[in-house]
Amino acid sequence: MFVQRIPAHIALIDQSIGVLDDAAMQSNDGAVIKNMENLRQGWDFIRGLFKNFLDREAAHYFDAAELLRTIVRQTSRSLPPQLKSVPMNFQIDAGAAKMLVRGQEKQFSRAIINLLKNAAEAVFFKEFKTGAEKIDISVAPDARRENVIIVIRDEGMGISRENMERIFLPYFTTKGEYGTGLGMLIVREAIESHGGTLSIASTVDKGTTVTLTLPLAPDPADVLIFAQEPLPAPLAETAI
Ligand SMILES: Nc1ncnc2c1ncn2[C@@H]1O[C@H](COP(=O)(O)OP(=O)(O)O)[C@@H](O)[C@H]1O
Ligand SMILES: [Mg+2]
Repeated sequence: MFVQRIPAHIALIDQSIGVLDDAAMQSNDGAVIKNMENLRQGWDFIRGLFKNFLDREAAHYFDAAELLRTIVRQTSRSLPPQLKSVPMNFQIDAGAAKMLVRGQEKQFSRAIINLLKNAAEAVFFKEFKTGAEKIDISVAPDARRENVIIVIRDEGMGISRENMERIFLPYFTTKGEYGTGLGMLIVREAIESHGGTLSIASTVDKGTTVTLTLPLAPDPADVLIFAQEPLPAPLAETAI
């Protein structure tokens, strides 16, 4: 992967074009000036393409299992007192290697927090509680190690068939003043922008299961090589 060298080369070409541009102007040669103009325009276009590419490349990798473990621990501590008592059991597929996902850790964390909060609230708002209701969270790779599967299962109030169609609508909430109706919208956006999918199964009064499927980074070894590749030489050393 030579991606990390691209910015230095872009800077070098920018610098050279700047120098040539001045020289072309001073030459007073119409053909040279015209060609220089073409060169600059063409380069601006190519640089724009590279910038888009590099912005996407700037996304980094996180270990989904590790991140989930941290979020579950933090969320169960930071929930309001009335929700804190709902037990959250976290299960990670033992022996599984790192589950690297390419994307934005913060955005992904926000989605998981929203789902955990909904799960805890679903138990809190359940009318006929047994007192044994819990939330189970699991994370494991699929059989072909192409995706990581995250399952958040609660034994809460469930979602009716008609509400199921509305849960992603902005401001749709069944929690009155307690809800904002934005949580699931944020979840869907985050999962989609990570190239993943989300499915929900629910039974009223029994509970809800949310399943997230996220593509694993193609090969963790590649990612490590990518991260360890030496940075390009500083511009000052390569500039003319
Ligand atoms: N795990 C769940 N169990 C039951 N209902 C849920 C669950 N997750 C989401 N919902 C339903 O979807 C609605 C929208 O959720 P969300 O967008 O997070 O907004 P909010 O939680 O602020 O109401 C909730 O009000 C609730 O009716
Ligand atoms: Mg919510």
